[in-house]
Amino acid sequence: MALLLTSCSATPSAEIAEDNAAAVIWPADIVSETGDISFPKGFLKWQTLGAWSTADEEGKANGMHQVYVSPGAADAYLETGAFPDGTVLVKEVRSAATAQLSTGAASYATDKGVWFVMIKDKKERFPENALWGDGWGWALFDAKEPGKQMATDYQNDCLACHVPAQETDWVYVEAYPVLWKDGKPPIPKWLDQAKAAMNEQ
Ligand code: HEC
Repeated sequence: MALLLTSCSATPSAEIAEDNAAAVIWPADIVSETGDISFPKGFLKWQTLGAWSTADEEGKANGMHQVYVSPGAADAYLETGAFPDGTVLVKEVRSAATAQLSTGAASYATDKGVWFVMIKDKKERFPENALWGDGWGWALFDAKEPGKQMATDYQNDCLACHVPAQETDWVYVEAYPVLWKDGKPPIPKWLDQAKAAMNEQ
């Protein structure tokens, strides 16, 4: 802790969340003073929360989504049951290919596609900015032009699809074993609903 505080004092704009035992630093490097969000360049070295694979209508893998979390945030989540202020989540969407390996048909991530980014904001810092609200900053980047943030209004661009996970702060935590306390997934509701939807098809 002492070490963390020392290294922080080198960055005047960095704040440390007061309400969490494990300190997470506000990501001032990717959030401007007016709430514009830029690409979180170093995220590939962060902790992985979990992964999703998507399939086409024939059931063939066509996408891999790898989800990353900024340093310290997963530990704090396990301690407090909430994402600390300043947590950054990145979902990297890639295409997928499948090969016959010694394990059987194995699918793996290939070309870069897009990145979805969420930044936990407990202080409602940017009420005027349409990328911020419901406790998070929301952003989207495309591999064709990663320097450009593509989302314009999180309520139109993001929120509706995250409603099934609203009870767990809009995050599909059930799919991320790293966040499970006692090895058990937290709220199974969205999963039950999603499974029911599969069966109806
Ligand atoms: C078409 C529906 C849809 C839209 C639109 C959408 N999301 Fe998601 N998002 C999901 C689903 C479903 C998951 C988890 C499953 C998956 O990745 O396939 C997810 C996962 C995520 C994750 C990983 C953490 C988590 O919540 O589990 C992030 C970060 C994320 N989305 C951010 C965003 C942002 C930011 C936007 C808007 C710019 C957005 N999403 C728009 C459906 C959507």
